[in-house]
Amino acid sequence: TLLPIILSGGSGTRLWPLSRETYPKQLLALTGTATLLQETALRLGGLEGALQVSSPGVVCNVECRFITAEQLQTVGKPASFILLEPFGRNTAPALTLAALQAHRDGSDPVMLVMPADHVIGDVPAFHAAVQRGLAAAADGAMLTFGIVPTRAETGYGYLRYGDEQADGSRQLAAFVEKPDLETARRYLDSGEYLWNSGLFMMRASVWLKAIAHFDPAMATACTAAFEAASRDIDFIRIDPIAFAACPSDSIDYAVMEKLAAAPELGIPARIVPLDANWSDVGAWDALWDVLDKDAAGNATRGHTLLEGSTGSLVFAGSRLVAGVGLDNIIVVETADAVLVADKSRTQDVKKIVARLKAEG
Ligand code: GDD
Ligand code: MG
Repeated sequence: TLLPIILSGGSGTRLWPLSRETYPKQLLALTGTATLLQETALRLGGLEGALQVSSPGVVCNVECRFITAEQLQTVGKPASFILLEPFGRNTAPALTLAALQAHRDGSDPVMLVMPADHVIGDVPAFHAAVQRGLAAAADGAMLTFGIVPTRAETGYGYLRYGDEQADGSRQLAAFVEKPDLETARRYLDSGEYLWNSGLFMMRASVWLKAIAHFDPAMATACTAAFEAASRDIDFIRIDPIAFAACPSDSIDYAVMEKLAAAPELGIPARIVPLDANWSDVGAWDALWDVLDKDAAGNATRGHTLLEGSTGSLVFAGSRLVAGVGLDNIIVVETADAVLVADKSRTQDVKKIVARLKAEG
């Protein structure tokens, strides 16, 4: 069986002021009527035809438990378990907790690890990629899903591809997480790299073996925090005291970067190509990219009026937002904050959030 694991613990700071710590972007309907979390779960529909797919397991912050459970129930995709982190320790501990839960009765499902905050336009292509990788994952490989890069993005991981396998996957020759701009340009020009989509697939036991090898302190802390968890009907509350001892690290840095260089571990690392209109909607410009736009390239929401404006994103919450002569501008109006930004600078929104935090 395939066990989808939805990682839903990020705070989406670059989509402030819509995305907030207590109401992060994956819980918002940014692209349509369903939220990104709901779309992530709904995207699994249709995979069941060819194989047995369990209800998804979710890992999220304890603060978001009710809304997370409710959003999944509403779309008919109730979670099989919801692991609650008292605080975030990034994605490697989140996945370790999920693997411990998946493996607890000795079963060893293949886990399909899915970020809760991505958009995939071509769902059949996504299903085909999962099917393609399934046999290798069942055989004990660690799979990444690679996207053909279109720009020298520094916010992504880069996968250098090696030899093609019989199943159409590639060997993962190297993994470099978030390179600097110069390196990213070099990778783009070389034509030997794909972006890491952030989707992964591996058996629970394979992940647990890798994390025990590369970060034993994390494996130990997660095991203690998982064993001391308290359980009520739907929720597994990770023990905060034991989890506080857990180092913070991502799947990419903690395992993926090291795996390609550690053949002695005996875990084959692979890339499955994914050509499915993927976007991680990380920042406002990426959201503008995937939204429907008017003839002048404006994406709007709520009550807006635009005159002589092009290439802009204007989101009105409760008030009328009018724009005159806006070119490639982002305007997001909410009850307590308004963002106005140049569309080419939207990565820097996280600096505003950092300053807000520092102010308290
Ligand atoms: N449960 C839980 N706990 N989930 C988390 C946590 C956490 O502490 N931190 C992040 N997540 C979730 C986020 O909500 C998101 O769905 C996913 O894990 C990935 O985390 P991000 O913080 O968004 O990672 P990233 O975007 O910087 O980088 C990753 O994704 C890129 C593609 O979008 C990496 O895998 C890159 O290599 C990749 O290119
Ligand atoms: Mg992300």
